[in-house]
Amino acid sequence: MMMKKLLICSLAATFLCLGGISFADNGPADMMLQAEKDKAKKPKPAVFPHAKHQEFAKCADCHHSAKDGKQVAYVDGQEIGKCESCHYKGSGLPKKIETYKGAAHANCKDCHKKSAAEKPELAEKFKGCMPCHPKK
Ligand code: HEC
Ligand code: HEC
Ligand code: HEC
Ligand code: HEC
Repeated sequence: MMMKKLLICSLAATFLCLGGISFADNGPADMMLQAEKDKAKKPKPAVFPHAKHQEFAKCADCHHSAKDGKQVAYVDGQEIGKCESCHYKGSGLPKKIETYKGAAHANCKDCHKKSAAEKPELAEKFKGCMPCHPKK
């Protein structure tokens, strides 16, 4: 009787655990990023392989939240808002990162620049507006 209860308990724990893994929301694997609020006259959608970045970057390298207009560091399991829900024209954030374009360029381009400095073989891949805005 006792054993049976133990077995059921450990089975339940296993399922809870598996559930925790399979339901963790890592977001879409591949995305096409495009500003909605501050869309440029000539939209420039950006290619973003999200899952691939999760293999080497931490969630906190890109995600955070905010309180009273100040950035709050990412914590596991937090709600993840669209960048543009906070970074948009008139948001009052510093000019360089006020808009989605500004925030994205600061986040994406800065890391690509750093990565290319560390791994010269990436320099070619990261030339100009590549690989984010590929020519059609
Ligand atoms: C490392 C990735 C990356 C690189 C490199 C990059 N961008 Fe972007 N860019 C983005 C992201 C992400 C956005 C925000 C999503 C969007 O609106 O396209 C964006 C937005 C923009 C927008 C606004 C588009 C719109 O519809 O509002 C313009 C214009 C733009 N980029 C121009 C450029 C130019 C010109 C270059 C090269 C000199 C460049 N970007 C290089 C990632 C990049
Ligand atoms: C290299 C940058 C980067 C990394 C690393 C990253 N993300 Fe993201 N993630 C993004 C961007 C950019 C978006 C699109 C945001 C938008 O649409 O404004 C996004 C979107 C999401 C969304 C969808 C949000 C929505 O619109 O509903 C979820 C969920 C998410 N990420 C979870 C995660 C988790 C969990 C991790 C870590 C395991 C992670 N991300 C790692 C950049 C990143
Ligand atoms: C809940 C609101 C909110 C969301 C969602 C948000 N940000 Fe921010 N972000 C802020 C605030 C507030 C700051 C701090 C501004 C300051 O320095 O005064 C900030 C700062 C930044 C900075 C400059 C500081 C740093 O960490 O390098 C970048 C770059 C940035 N955000 C990019 C992004 C990107 C990319 C996304 C989407 C993946 C995003 N933010 C989503 C509110 C937000
Ligand atoms: C924490 C650092 C970091 C951030 C932040 C980051 N990237 Fe990257 N990204 C990389 C590195 C490193 C690679 C090269 C991966 C490789 O080829 O091994 C890469 C590769 C890419 C590629 C090419 C993928 C391929 O299959 O060749 C695209 C497209 C890209 N990034 C877009 C973006 C966009 C858009 C953003 C912002 C939303 C972004 N990245 C933010 C580090 C970063």
